[in-house]
Amino acid sequence: MLQGGVKTIEWTNEGVRLIDQRILPGREEYFVCRNSEEVAMAIREMVVRGAPAIGVTAAMGIALGMKQSAAATLEEWQKDFARIADLLAATRPTAVNLFWAIGRMRERFEQWIASGAGREQIAQQLIAEAQHILEEDIAACRAMGDFGASLVPAGQTVMTICNAGALATAGYGTALGVIRSAVREGKGVDVLSLETRPFLQGARLTAWELQKDGIPTTLITDNMAGHFLRTGLNSRKIGCVVVGADRIAANGDTANKIGTYGVAVLARENNVPFYVAAPLSTIDLNIASGEQIPIEQRAEREVAEIQGVRIAPEGIAIQNPAFDMTPHRYIAAIITERGIAQPPYTESLARLKQAPVR
Ligand code: MRU
Repeated sequence: MLQGGVKTIEWTNEGVRLIDQRILPGREEYFVCRNSEEVAMAIREMVVRGAPAIGVTAAMGIALGMKQSAAATLEEWQKDFARIADLLAATRPTAVNLFWAIGRMRERFEQWIASGAGREQIAQQLIAEAQHILEEDIAACRAMGDFGASLVPAGQTVMTICNAGALATAGYGTALGVIRSAVREGKGVDVLSLETRPFLQGARLTAWELQKDGIPTTLITDNMAGHFLRTGLNSRKIGCVVVGADRIAANGDTANKIGTYGVAVLARENNVPFYVAAPLSTIDLNIASGEQIPIEQRAEREVAEIQGVRIAPEGIAIQNPAFDMTPHRYIAAIITERGIAQPPYTESLARLKQAPVR
């Protein structure tokens, strides 16, 4: 089944149910967040990760927290909304989908409060809104996949980094959605997945997800990217690179998983087109260029250890930026659910973001 075949995020009567991405592929287990604090922890600790998935999960975290709130008055209940929204917003700084989803929930909440609706009714509407965000994300991924497939050359290899798949979204994926659609169209492509140090999203998640779907995939370490972009894989050319995004500035500069920038430069050097696939909720028109995108710094132990085993000497200085920024000049096109944006992005992205939904 070319849909990822997994439910990344689900609203249940017990709470928000997430496939636990910390332990895949060894164990396929689900983590149920029973309150908004646990949802925040799950985002911070990367039980769930990937920009669109984080946004959907945060929306559900708000719905869950508001449903459970013990506030005695409407005023206190509104304060609870602000507290829960702040808690979720403080989890990870780079993926703008998180702030987009929180903003959308806040806007609806304020509208319903202003309309005089009752608390029970608003709590139900918040749950429904979070579910809409989830469903819209799947639809966006499918549309983006179908637009993007037109860019993928038949019979060649697609390189990708990190996991921009069903696991990183509500389903189907962004970059992996493009690959799924290309496969469905019979383009006969295979995938070269970079392992993606330090959290190993490529080795653990992309490899698992594509293997589950029967899409031929070869795993390489990050430092092999240049070699294969130059030589191709098993006498097949690398036809294109497709990656996801955590935040795209108005000029097209794109923050994505650490290592993406290097791949983009190597792709340019080897005349391989480099594409970004992302929903419009990832485009931040409030930020003029990538220089303003906040880059998350994560714990040193993620670099010093592999799966809990220390590999570096104690006391060594360590840096762990989770994302880097690829300047727009390296990006051949940005694939969205409303179509494909081409340079100059300042115009094409603004146009797409404002266009009516098809
Ligand atoms: O740290 P992560 O795993 O949340 O980083 C994820 C990425 O960088 C993805 O490429 C991006 O969020 C797009 S997911 C469709």
